[in-house]
Amino acid sequence: MNQPTSNRSVVVLGTQWGDEGKGKIVDLLAAQADLVVRYQGGHNAGHTLIVNGEKLVLHLVPSGILQANARNLIGNGVVISPAALKKELDDLENRGIQTKGRLGIAPNCTVIMPYHEALDRMREVALGSQAIGTTGRGIGPAYEDKIARRGLCMGDLLDGDRLQAKLEPVMDYHNFVLTQYFQDKALDISRVRDEALQLGAILEGYLSDVTDELHRARDAGLKILFEGAQGTLLDIDHGTYPFVTSSNTTVGGACTGSGIAPCDIDYVLGITKAYTTRVGAGPFPTELHDDAGQHLGERGKEFGATTGRSRRCGWLDAVALARAVKLNGVTGLCVTKLDVLDQLQEVKICTGYLLHDQPIDGYPADRDQWSDLQPRYETMPGWQQDTRGIKSREQLPDTAQVYLNRMEELIGAPIHILSTGPERDEGTVLVNPFG
Ligand code: IMP
Repeated sequence: MNQPTSNRSVVVLGTQWGDEGKGKIVDLLAAQADLVVRYQGGHNAGHTLIVNGEKLVLHLVPSGILQANARNLIGNGVVISPAALKKELDDLENRGIQTKGRLGIAPNCTVIMPYHEALDRMREVALGSQAIGTTGRGIGPAYEDKIARRGLCMGDLLDGDRLQAKLEPVMDYHNFVLTQYFQDKALDISRVRDEALQLGAILEGYLSDVTDELHRARDAGLKILFEGAQGTLLDIDHGTYPFVTSSNTTVGGACTGSGIAPCDIDYVLGITKAYTTRVGAGPFPTELHDDAGQHLGERGKEFGATTGRSRRCGWLDAVALARAVKLNGVTGLCVTKLDVLDQLQEVKICTGYLLHDQPIDGYPADRDQWSDLQPRYETMPGWQQDTRGIKSREQLPDTAQVYLNRMEELIGAPIHILSTGPERDEGTVLVNPFG
């Protein structure tokens, strides 16, 4: 296998519905990076870390914050709840992790305001059985305001007059929707403004020209790690719409959400579990409702880091993964949680779909077809041996090797990292994305 020579910009992203185990891999790579950058999503993401034996969940702050050498950036594509960010920064500082001078935030990041959270909640209630199952963090409504050209940004929180002028028409509009459409309470503009100004004053010191920092870092030959949130199938354009998040989780989001050019991305690491999970509602062709699904959930400890909800579990979907590889130009795959399959008598991979009982070619072109898909499986014997902590592909049981080889063949990308347990040293880096 060819070792890439000195890649400087690496994007790590999820190839499924999020929760692929990006956290551990991002930590591993952040140790080599000069800059770690978030570029989309918001505090709907959750990344659990153990710091000095204590559990810490990062939602917005890039993972490089735990690496003494890394500078951390939040690009313009991220939606920021100033209150959630302040809480996270306080938590970090209280644990002795310095954030000042180590975190830069783009002034153009759209802010999530209290009315976005109210709208997110009320919409989900109104949708009833059709609810998306959002994280309730106001992510969708904030991105809507951005696209509707009425969004407020971090820079707006620094000046009372500027904020008032923008907030008044926006809150007029949203209060009308909240009271007249959803029969909910109106929010008080002066309270929202005062809180936002207070938070703006606290966060002002973090604002920085993130795009310029990235261009300079690139020119200086520094190593940059772009940390994706959620996963490809939750992408607003390419995912299982409307059961998606509201950002571009695919690789283009790294460019639009930070200001680097596509040609400045040297390597894309696509993370996939050895099986599939999803939180929230929406189509999931390989979902299991039997003992095998329950086994995956229990053995894989499949509960969301942000909401604590149990994740739906199913077999690996090679059709969706092959599409994710193409959509993102994945250079190499990282397969996580292989060990969760260890005790199963047989394992299955979805190699195609049936639509209304007819085989279709690849991935459905029309998003409405997702809910009518039936998986076609290839079944293989399980290995029924412990693979936890195994450090090379050759040490794996033969049947586990067959499973991984078949994955590569069907998905169309080579496995560069294999993770066989939650601990940092459980697994192996076959090809280092930074070269
Ligand atoms: P939202 O991003 O809160 O609007 O939620 C939209 C959909 O994306 C829901 O199905 C959520 O469960 C899902 N989602 C959002 N963030 C994550 C994540 O970090 N991991 C997995 N699913 C997520």
